[in-house]
Amino acid sequence: MPRIAYVNGRYLPHRQASVHIEDRGFQFADGVYEVIAITAGKLVDIEPHLDRLNRSLGELNIPWPVSRQAFGLILREVIRRNRVTNGSIYLQITRGVAPRDFSYPGELLPSLVIYARSTKKATIQSASQGHAVISQPDIRWTRCDIKTVSLLPAVLAKRAASEAGVADAWFVNEEGIITEGTSSNAWIVTPNNELITRQIDNLILSGITRLTILKLAETAGLTFTERPFSLEDAKQATEAFTSSSTALVKPVIEIDGVQIGDGQAGPITRQLIEHYLKYMDDPS
Ligand code: PDD
Repeated sequence: MPRIAYVNGRYLPHRQASVHIEDRGFQFADGVYEVIAITAGKLVDIEPHLDRLNRSLGELNIPWPVSRQAFGLILREVIRRNRVTNGSIYLQITRGVAPRDFSYPGELLPSLVIYARSTKKATIQSASQGHAVISQPDIRWTRCDIKTVSLLPAVLAKRAASEAGVADAWFVNEEGIITEGTSSNAWIVTPNNELITRQIDNLILSGITRLTILKLAETAGLTFTERPFSLEDAKQATEAFTSSSTALVKPVIEIDGVQIGDGQAGPITRQLIEHYLKYMDDPS
C-alpha cells in the first residue's frame, strides 16, 4: 500500500510529497512540529499536543494554517489513508514560502505537512530494554520550550552518540546540570528513592509524555520532584530513563560508560512503563 502524506491541502503519494525551495522552514528552520504516538489507530494525548503546538505557533507568531478542528480531522484522515494502527504521526508547520529574507512579510500562508508511520506495538518486554547514553554539551538556544524544527544541536549530539556506539545523548549545560535528552526528557531515581525530572522552563521542552508520567506517578502514589539534577547525580542514580512520544518510557542503563543500578530497568522505571503502556491502550 503506498504511503500518503498531506501537503498544503493535498493528499499525495509519499514520493511526490515536497515543499517549495523558498519555504522558510527549509531555509531558516522557521517552523514548528509535533510527533504524536498512535495506538490502536488513535492519537495518544492529542489535546495536550495541540495545546503545545498552539503555544509554539503563538511564540513565533505563526498563524494556524487551518482551524484546530480541521487539523484534528486531517490528522485522522492521514492515519486512515495509511492504515496506521501503531506508530506515530509527524506534523510540521512553517511560516510559509517567501523570497529569501531574514525578516518575514506580515501576511504569509503557513505551510503544513503531515505524515504517519507504522511501528511495532511496544510490549512490556520490548519497552523494558535499556540503552546506553553519553553526555553532550547543551549548545542549544535559550528557547528550548518552543518545539521548533531547528534541531541541529540534537542532530550532532545524536551522531556523536552513534559514533560512541550508544543509542542517545543527554545534554549537560555549563553548570554540569542535565537539561534533557536529544529528543526526550530525562529522569533519574536517587539512592534514596527520589524520582526526579527537571522542572519546566525555557531550557527544556515540556514533554507531553513527561506530563502524563507525572500524573501516572501521582496516581500510583510515587513521590517525585521536579528539580535540576547534575550529570554526577545521574551517574550515581539507581535508575534512569527517558520519556518521549516515540521512546515512551525508555530505561537508561549506562551514562558515559558508568552503569546505572544493576544495568537493567529498575523497579520504578518498570512500574512506570507498565502504567504508561496501559494508559496508551486506555487513557481514561
Ligand atoms: N521529540 N525534549 C525534546 C528536545 C524533544 O524533542 C522531545 C520530543 C521531548 C519529549 O516530548 P514528548 O514527550 O511530547 O514527545 C523532549 C520528538 C519525539 C521528536 O523530535 O521526534
